[in-house]
Amino acid sequence: MTIREDAVPDFTHVPCRMPTSDAARAEVLANPGFGTSFSDHMVTIEWKEERGWHDAKVGPRQPIMLDPAAAVLHYAQEIFEGLKVYKQVDGSTALFRPDANAARFNRSAARLAMPELPEALFVKAIEQLVNVDIDWVPSLEGGSLYLRPFLIATEPFLGVRPARQYKFIVIASPAGNYFKSGAPAISVWVSDYARAAAGGTGAAKCGGNYAASLVPQGEAIARGHDQVVFLDAAEQRWIEELGGMNLFFVFADGTMLTPALTGTILAGITRESLLTLAREEGLNVVEGRYGIDKWREDALSGKLVETFACGTAAVVTAVGHVAGRDGEFAVGAGMPGPVTERLKARLVAIQRGEAIDRHAWVHRIAGPRSQ
Ligand code: PLP
Ligand code: COI
Repeated sequence: MTIREDAVPDFTHVPCRMPTSDAARAEVLANPGFGTSFSDHMVTIEWKEERGWHDAKVGPRQPIMLDPAAAVLHYAQEIFEGLKVYKQVDGSTALFRPDANAARFNRSAARLAMPELPEALFVKAIEQLVNVDIDWVPSLEGGSLYLRPFLIATEPFLGVRPARQYKFIVIASPAGNYFKSGAPAISVWVSDYARAAAGGTGAAKCGGNYAASLVPQGEAIARGHDQVVFLDAAEQRWIEELGGMNLFFVFADGTMLTPALTGTILAGITRESLLTLAREEGLNVVEGRYGIDKWREDALSGKLVETFACGTAAVVTAVGHVAGRDGEFAVGAGMPGPVTERLKARLVAIQRGEAIDRHAWVHRIAGPRSQ
């Protein structure tokens, strides 16, 4: 069946014949970690130049067949998203801003010369998967079911041009704390490597950006830190973001600054949500440039009182310690500060249905019976 651009199709359902036992699932959900265990099903939707999107399916999670010449394996034509479904206080489940992920997915698709997926189809695919694997949503505090939608070029062709055949897939992975240590604040390493340059793919969520971040991230870990900080490629001076999170700086005078979206950093959905909440809190919110030299100077003088990282996987995490080529320094007391704590609490309360959702960010999952 071919899917018209504006139509949201019915999905074929093929249930998993050997689902995980209740006991094995309970064990995973009690301590999910991040990205190591997966639910029983997955969504697949095919795209071909001559047919558009077709064959939407929810089936058992299983290995995918790929021709060894598939374009994704050679030229990395791949994009992905990350979003979470949360247990609500009333027992229901809800996604957080899936429409924002759908829109960003299409911006990434456009940059990587891939076909765009109708936003309603992106959201429906996720709802379908959550409904069949609803028992995989952890109820523990800080727990969620992390959804990973991604798109790969499957056409077997070694010429360098956009592929004419793609597969969209969504998998789900129960998630707890992103950082293994569970420490209240993380330590970061300022890298000499660059993540993205002007005109490159820094604003797209494509696998290649993360492949390029592995050596610098490995360097950070080898030196005893949790995450890598990237500076701008041109001057190696302006703070951009972490390997998988955006950064915020809080000053003693009530200003909160985050690097502006110049095209080289990812437009985080958590970032945008926190900007909105901070404005509501009366903070003087600035999107601008902040240099590594000023970060150190302001932390040492006490002008800068807090730094935190944010993203879907890591939520809001204080940065307590910074190290790099020119030595190291602590931020504030090296612990989460009051603004970090308050913004995190407000965000989490909205995500969990404990606070009023003024911005219509919370997207309830209707439940299997209403489909
Ligand atoms: N920056 C990078 C490089 C990321 O990988 C992520 C994670 O998705 C973010 C920022 C934060 O984005 P979001 O808040 O949409 O998860
Ligand atoms: C996310 O926060 O969703 C991310 O994609 C970050 C990382 C796991 C790649």
